[in-house]
Order: sequence, then structure tokens, then C-alpha cells
Amino acid sequence: MKVIDFRSDTVTQPTENMRLAMFNAEVGDDILGEDQSVIRLEEYSAKLFDKEAALFVLSGTMANQIAVMTLTNRGEEVILSKNSHLFNLEGGALAALSQVQAHPLNTKQGQFDLDELISCIRKKGVQNPKTGLIALENTYDLNRGLVLSKEYLDEVALLANDNGVSLYLDGARIFSASIELNISVATLVENIDTMQFCLTKGLAAPMGSILLGSKEFIEKARWIRQRLGGGMRQAGHMAAAALIALLEMRERIKEDHLNAKILAQGLYKIDSSLVDLNQVQTNIIKVCLKKTSIDAREFARQLLGLGIRVKVIGEHNCRMITHVDTSKDDIHFAIKQIKIIMEQ
Ligand SMILES: Cc1ncc(COP(=O)(O)O)c(C=O)c1O
Repeated sequence: MKVIDFRSDTVTQPTENMRLAMFNAEVGDDILGEDQSVIRLEEYSAKLFDKEAALFVLSGTMANQIAVMTLTNRGEEVILSKNSHLFNLEGGALAALSQVQAHPLNTKQGQFDLDELISCIRKKGVQNPKTGLIALENTYDLNRGLVLSKEYLDEVALLANDNGVSLYLDGARIFSASIELNISVATLVENIDTMQFCLTKGLAAPMGSILLGSKEFIEKARWIRQRLGGGMRQAGHMAAAALIALLEMRERIKEDHLNAKILAQGLYKIDSSLVDLNQVQTNIIKVCLKKTSIDAREFARQLLGLGIRVKVIGEHNCRMITHVDTSKDDIHFAIKQIKIIMEQ
């Protein structure tokens, strides 16, 4: 039986063009700086985001942790959001690897209250930790995919700069944000000095993330990547697929957003408590089953029996993400099956 997998946009298969590019890639020893495919990917990425330099790393998690290690000193504090990937899903690496302490804040629709943010930046004092970094995520929350505007990013950048604190953006799904805002990624992150984006989410590449920043930042990040065992040899096979992803898969993320909206509206029609349409901004839908008679595990189990996979994210919530391998027909099939389950 065909299974439609809505658990994540990380479950995608490489396209035919990516497979061909991997097969034919010109490669070399990347630790020695000799892999032309990696060099091409890094140069293209830096140009696309209008940053000085870029670094190809193994994963989004590695990019985030290299950034924190590069931008902070031991014992410093990182202000971040409670639902961020950095805080929740990186195996405690902030403490274990970077030896910083997390200062998690609540957000409203993904945004910090800026007065609260300012008040959390530590004053100089013998007993105080130093605020080393503010970390943002755009789109925000891997269970909602909320878009943060350029105006908000600029405000936080100004605030960080005024207070002498580094700023980092986890832009795992930054292309989704740029598409929804209808501005280029370069414009969107104009005032963000350091960031990463993932190649393996909506872009559907098989591996990797790109760190972006100044030449100085990337030089240090490259050294820390090596320390973590993330230096690669003939990485060009993966970089070649990633370059195809960047060239050919960015625009089509629009379709994922449209499909998510169709799916969300379908769910809303079945039962308006299932989904908050205001929060379906990109390719991620948080399904709420609290007001229904079925819990998340049972909902996921029944759907799996019908050939649909969703991710359970709590007793009453599931996540559904649209991506290149979930077609419009799949969306309509899923709505039909969910209707059947809900009517039972
Ligand atoms: C917002 C965000 N940041 C970082 C990551 C980490 O990426 P990776 O799975 O490549 O380590 C993810 C992965 O889902 C994510 O959603």
C-alpha cells in the first residue's frame, strides 16, 4: 500500500536531477579545500543571501551548535524561545558542548516581547552571567511554521546591536518565510549577521545545512566544524545535490504552502476545532484533537491503517507537514480519510 508521509518535510526523496548531480559530481578533499562542488555550493549560498561567506555542514543541528560555539564563550547566556529547536531538540548541546546556559522566553506568534527581551539582557556585574547571544528561528516552531517579518527581525537586530549582544538566526525553513512575505531571502535577513538554513526540509536535498556570515565567522566556524568531526572529504556528492535543491526547489515550496492551506481548510470544514487557520502560514499544520473523542495516538494509528502517516506531538496534537512528495491528490485523499475517522 502507498503511504503518504505527512510527519515531516525531512522524509522526502532526492529528485532525479539530484541523483544525477550526485553521480556526476566533481569532488575532491574538502578538508583541504579541494572539493569544487562544495566550493560552488558555498559560493552560491553566500551570494543568494548576500553574506560574505558560507560553510556546508552536516545538519541543521550541527550548524546551530557550531554557531553558538563560535559566537559565545563558556558560561555565557543564550536568550532563545521556549519552542525553539536549539532549546528542545539538540540533545542538550548548549550545555554539553558550548557550555552556555539557556534563557528561554515565551513568544507570541513566534515573537519575543521586545521589552521583556531588553530586560533579560544581563547588566554587567560580578555575579551576573553575560548575555552572549540572542537566537531567533524563522519560520518559528517546527510544529507550526510561523513567519517572522523582516520588520521584526530588524528590530531584534537593532536591539542586539545596541546592547552589544550577538544575534543568530536558525533559518531552517527561511525559504518558507521569504515566500510568504514575498521578499528575497537576502532582503529578509539583511540585518542578521549570522544564520543557517537547512537543505533537507522543503528543498528536499538528502543532507546538510549552510552556515552564513562574515568571512571571519565562517573561518572560525570551519575550525569548530573540524573539532566536532564535521570536516568532510569528498562531500561534493552531497553538495551537488544540494546545489540542485537550491536552484530547482525553492520556488516550488509555494505549492507546499498552498497544499497545507487546502488541507487545513479541509480539516476546518470537518471540525473547526481541529486547526487554527491563523497559524497555518507555511507548510506545517498542528492538528488539535482536544475537543474530539479521539486522542493523538489513536488518530495517528487509524490514519496509518489508511496509508497516511502523521506525527504525534502530544496527547491531543498531531503534526502534518506538506512537501514535494505530498501531491494535491494526497491532500484530498487525506481530508477524505480524516473525515471518515472523525465521523465514526
Ligand atoms: C527549526 C529547526 N532548526 C534546526 C533543525 C535541525 O536540523 P537537522 O535535523 O538537519 O539537524 C530543524 C529540524 O527539524 C528545525 O526544524
